Amino acid sequence: MNINGQVALVTGGGSGLGRATCEQLAAAGAKVFIFDMNAAAAAETVANIGAERAAFALVNVADEASVQAGFEQLVAAFGALQICVNCAGIATAGKILDRDSNPLPLSEFSKTISVNLIGSFNVARMAAALMAKNEAMGEALERGIIINTASVAAFEGQLGQCAYSASKGGIVGMTLPMARDLAKLGIRVNAIAPGIMGTPMLLAMPKNVQEGLVSNIQFPKRMGLPKEYGDLVVHLASNSYINGETIRLDGAIRMQPR
Ligand SMILES: NC(=O)c1ccc[n+]([C@@H]2O[C@H](COP(=O)([O-])OP(=O)(O)OC[C@H]3O[C@@H](n4cnc5c(N)ncnc54)[C@H](O)[C@@H]3O)[C@@H](O)[C@H]2O)c1
Repeated sequence: MNINGQVALVTGGGSGLGRATCEQLAAAGAKVFIFDMNAAAAAETVANIGAERAAFALVNVADEASVQAGFEQLVAAFGALQICVNCAGIATAGKILDRDSNPLPLSEFSKTISVNLIGSFNVARMAAALMAKNEAMGEALERGIIINTASVAAFEGQLGQCAYSASKGGIVGMTLPMARDLAKLGIRVNAIAPGIMGTPMLLAMPKNVQEGLVSNIQFPKRMGLPKEYGDLVVHLASNSYINGETIRLDGAIRMQPR
């Protein structure tokens, strides 16, 4: 797909990987619409790009009515949608049993699944419905692309990551069937599984936890840059032959139990 002139929706575009994605897509010529729960952060991303090429709506991706209202604002602002990138997510931790063998409150598990997995599907399904209305574009006759954000924790969840890993494993699992469901419409679906990326989510962790995570990275021996995530989104959107795939972006890390 030629990104120039297309409209992209980025959830979680107020921070970290989502913000870098907005900036890289805008640099490639796309208009960018953000769904985020943090209005100040989303407004800052919009200001970085310029209000004529970017806008945001205050949306909770896990809430059906909120996402529906967000899509109405997107259509009012930019008319159509060709690229959807789900970056909104929360990092949660908690073992199935705590030190005293009390079980993890079910509400903590449900919240993680609700934002990370159900939120991604909620946005993807409404994005696909909007993309289905597009004219087929270019030699590949594409109508759109959806990119979901998984994590290496989908494959190697650490201690305390039952809920987070389940949410990200669900994203990996739905990538191929979603691509199959949408193939006849010319809509591709891929996922990115980042490793340890230098975003506010990671940089908020205690220094010793950050150092432990970086020590498992093979090369380059540093956290990934949000821009490197944005660059991969731009490539996935541009390369019409990548479909139904989850791509690790992780410096060859394989997460250890702790
Ligand atoms: N940073 C990493 O190392 C890393 C690694 C693997 C996967 N990921 C995944 O990448 C995605 C982005 O992570 P990040 O590090 O940029 O995080 P971040 O915390 O910097 O940004 C997340 C953004 O999502 C928004 N958000 C959270 N819940 C929301 C909701 N219910 N509705 C709408 N917006 C919501 C937040 O306001 C924030 O702007 C997440 O899905 C995360 O799980 C991150």
